[in-house]
Amino acid sequence: MTLARTPRISILFTVLLLLGGCAATNPQQPGSLAVASAHPLATQAGLRALEAGGNAFDAAIATAAVLSVVEPYSAGLGGGGFWLLQQPDQQTTLVDAREKAPAASTRDMYLDANGEVHPDKLSINGPLAAGIPGQPGAFAYINEHYAERPLRANLQDAIRIARQGFHVDQRYHELAEWRREVMQRYPATRQTFLVDGKVPPVGALIRQPALADTLEALADRGWDGFYDGPVAQQLVSDVQAAGGIWQLQDLKDYTIVERQPVVIHYDDATLWTTPPPSSGGIALAQMFGMMQQRPFDEVFPDTPADDPVARTHYLVEVMRRAYRDRAIYLGDPDYTDIPVKHLLDPAYLGKRMANLKPGQATPSQSLEGDLDSGTHTTHLSVMDADGRKVSATLSINLPFGSAFLSSGTGVLLNDEMDDFAIKPGVPNAYGLVGGEANSIAPGKRPLSSMTPTIMTSDDRTAIIGTPGGSRIITMVYLGLLDVLDGKSAEATVSDPRFHHQYLPDVIQHEPDTFTPEQKTALEAMGYELRDVGRHYGNMQLILRDRESGETTAAADPRGIGQAVVKPVR
Ligand code: GLY
Repeated sequence: MTLARTPRISILFTVLLLLGGCAATNPQQPGSLAVASAHPLATQAGLRALEAGGNAFDAAIATAAVLSVVEPYSAGLGGGGFWLLQQPDQQTTLVDAREKAPAASTRDMYLDANGEVHPDKLSINGPLAAGIPGQPGAFAYINEHYAERPLRANLQDAIRIARQGFHVDQRYHELAEWRREVMQRYPATRQTFLVDGKVPPVGALIRQPALADTLEALADRGWDGFYDGPVAQQLVSDVQAAGGIWQLQDLKDYTIVERQPVVIHYDDATLWTTPPPSSGGIALAQMFGMMQQRPFDEVFPDTPADDPVARTHYLVEVMRRAYRDRAIYLGDPDYTDIPVKHLLDPAYLGKRMANLKPGQATPSQSLEGDLDSGTHTTHLSVMDADGRKVSATLSINLPFGSAFLSSGTGVLLNDEMDDFAIKPGVPNAYGLVGGEANSIAPGKRPLSSMTPTIMTSDDRTAIIGTPGGSRIITMVYLGLLDVLDGKSAEATVSDPRFHHQYLPDVIQHEPDTFTPEQKTALEAMGYELRDVGRHYGNMQLILRDRESGETTAAADPRGIGQAVVKPVR
C-alpha cells in the first residue's frame, strides 16, 4: 500500500486531495487513555487531567502548559503552535495559534542600509525577533470551546512546577549551551536560566515565579489575563525597554483562527493535517500525490521497493519537489493567495515527477520556476477513552526562542519572525528560502513547517508529530509511511532519518542513516550527502489497532519524553 520498504508500493492506490472537509466513518470504540509528550512531567499532567474526568482537550492543555514550564527551550507562553483536535465522530478542526507580526513590523526590518541582512541577526536574537504569541490564547480558546474542566484545573500543574521548580536535564543543558552567548545578553534570562552566566548542571533547580504569576493571571481571567491588563502592559513595557516594537494594541488584536485541516485520502487511509500558514499539510498532500502519480515501480520496474538506495532516491526527489513549491507559493493564507487547487492537481503533480530519472539526482536548480528576487519546538499526542484526539506541535522557534525573557512576566519570547522570508532567496535559520508569499507584513503569520497529523486507515489510527524546524514535514512523512507499512510505534519513532528541502541541494541525514556503500551509491547518482552530525526530531506517536483496540504509544528515544497508555474498563 505505501511506498516504504515493502513491495506493496506497487499497488495502485487512490489519492484524493482535499483542502477542508471531514470524513466521518467508524467512530472509535471506548478504549484507552494515551499521552505522549517530550517530558515526563508533562505526560503525567496530561494523564492526571484525563483521570480526573477531563477529555483529551483538557489533557492536551495540561500537558502543553507543563511543557511551557519545563521545556523553556521548546515552547511556552511566549510562543505559538498548531492544535489539531478530533472528535469521536472524526470531525476535525485546526486551531491556529501561530504568532503574528506586530503592527510596527516592516518588510525590510531585518536589513541594513545596504539592503543586506543585518549582521546582528535581529530576526533570531532579542525582542525584535518576537511575533505576538498565540500559546496563551490557545489555552484560553481551546479550554472555553472544547474542554470540560476549568482552565485553572488544567493549568494547576504548570503553576505548581513553575513556582516550585524543575530539574535541569541533559536536553536543557545541551540546548542552553547552544544559545548561551545570546542568553547571557538579557539580565532576566541570565538570572532565570543560567547560573553566574553559565549553563546550570544537570539536576540544578530552575524556578520561574514570575511565570507562575502570569499563568495564575491566565487561570483567573482567561484570555484577558494575558492579552489585556497588567500582564499585557508589563510585557509591552519590557519589550520596548529592550528595543522591541510591540504595542498594547498588538496584544489586544491577537486572534486565534480555527481552520479546516488539509484532508488527504490515500488508499484506505484518511489523514488530517495542518493547512497554511503551516506548509506541512500542503507538502504532505503533494508528496503523497506525487507518489500516486508516478509510483515507485513505474520509475524502478526491476527494483524491489525495500531497496534502501532506490527508496531514498525516490523519496528525496518527492521531498525536493514539494519543498520547492513551499519556497515559492506558501505563506499566510489571510495575506497571500495560495494556488492550492493547482498545487494539488494530479496533472500538475504528475508533471512535476515526469523528469525523475532512475539512478540520477535532479539538481534543484534545474526545476522550473524561481524565487522573485536544530532547532526547537515540541509535540504532544493525546487520546481519551471516547476517541477524542489531539495532535499539537508548539514552538518558540530556536532553542530558548529569542533568548529574551520579559522580567515582569517571566515569559520567554519566541523568534518566529525568522520564519518569514526576511529577504527573498536568503536562507533562514533552517536554510529555508522563501519569496513574496512569505514576506513580512503587520499582523501576518510567518510560514511554519509544524505538521501535527492524525491518520486513520482500515487497520490503524495514528496521532503523530515532531519538532525539528524545516525537517518536521519529512519526519512526519517518513513516520506515516512506517505506520502505513505496519511498523510498531517504537520502531517508527526510532527509524533513522533523512531529509531534502530543495535548497540547499543536499540530502541531510543522521549519522547512522546510511551505510558507507549506500552513501557511495547515492553519490554516484549525483547526490551530495550532509551528515548533520547529530540525531534530530522528537516524535511523539500514539497508535491504535482498530480491530483489537490495542493502543500503543512511543516517545522518540532521541529525547527524554514519556508515552503512557492506560486501558479503561
Ligand atoms: N518555527 C519552526 C516552524 O514553525 O516551522
